Amino acid sequence: MTHTEIVAELGRYLEADAPEMSLPPAAFTSPELWETERERVFGRSWVLAAHVEELAAPGASVTVSPTGEPLTVVRDTDGALRARSALGPHRPAPAVEEWRGFAFVNRDASAEPLAPHLRRIGVELDAYRLPEMTPLAAWREEWRCNWKIAVQNAHENYHAMGLHPTTVALITPPGGAMEVRAESRWVTRLLSPFREPLAATALPLTAEQRATMYNCAVFPSGSLAAFGDSVVWISMIPLAIDRIEVRGGVLVHPSALEGQDRDALRVQNEESAAVVNREDRLGMEAVQRVVGSRFAERGHLSPKEPGVMAFYRGLARAVLTD
Ligand SMILES: [Fe+2]
Repeated sequence: MTHTEIVAELGRYLEADAPEMSLPPAAFTSPELWETERERVFGRSWVLAAHVEELAAPGASVTVSPTGEPLTVVRDTDGALRARSALGPHRPAPAVEEWRGFAFVNRDASAEPLAPHLRRIGVELDAYRLPEMTPLAAWREEWRCNWKIAVQNAHENYHAMGLHPTTVALITPPGGAMEVRAESRWVTRLLSPFREPLAATALPLTAEQRATMYNCAVFPSGSLAAFGDSVVWISMIPLAIDRIEVRGGVLVHPSALEGQDRDALRVQNEESAAVVNREDRLGMEAVQRVVGSRFAERGHLSPKEPGVMAFYRGLARAVLTD
């Protein structure tokens, strides 16, 4: 499949009668598409880089390289967050934005601000008191797959049955209906029911909030999701066409830690996250091997995967916009 053909197929996701099909396998392996994505997707989108507690001390920094160009977010001595490109001071400074404790960076210095796209989500997440939340656990991993394999996976819960039968699938019903709301070209809200409402002891959540996984996906590859009164963030950052860095963490409200052994809780959370992440990693790496085979074919998307279509439309818009 040529680059032109792949791009034409992407364009079909924007049509009214868009095919309910997965991306063509070549979209995960085409070096030309990867070049286009570096420029048009990651070169001008907001990438979730860190929770700001990692950037609390003056001089603290975090570097991400979603296009190959290292972008460093640093806490300046005046307290402001700034970003710079490792390619040197002659490069325009990347844009940096903090939203409720999350640091986003955008290589495009003239990018439109992200916060207006998150306004309604901010209101809906008010009870979670995100700006006060503190990281309880964190991780960084490397997975050997194309970034879109991991991101499309994060836009559906259907895979829990196959990849997480003894973990995530215990709290999410098999094939539970997902409600998708596209906020804008950058932000999608995904709601899915838990099997049973989760406990929430630290925050005054409604029964509906405890019964629902509230997932906010920030295009291209960041997300934050509420599980009871903890919030899990994750960011899939490409390292190469077939490799990603997965950064993430668990946030809780400080009142959830009162009288608790924080270290023990951290270890417990990091251990559970490592188990789930391993299940996802092995699944994603298996998909990567399949899409790389010359016998690979497109699959039909399940009606249970409306979030994946939302991601494909975001991808198509980004790739097709000059
Ligand atoms: Fe998963």
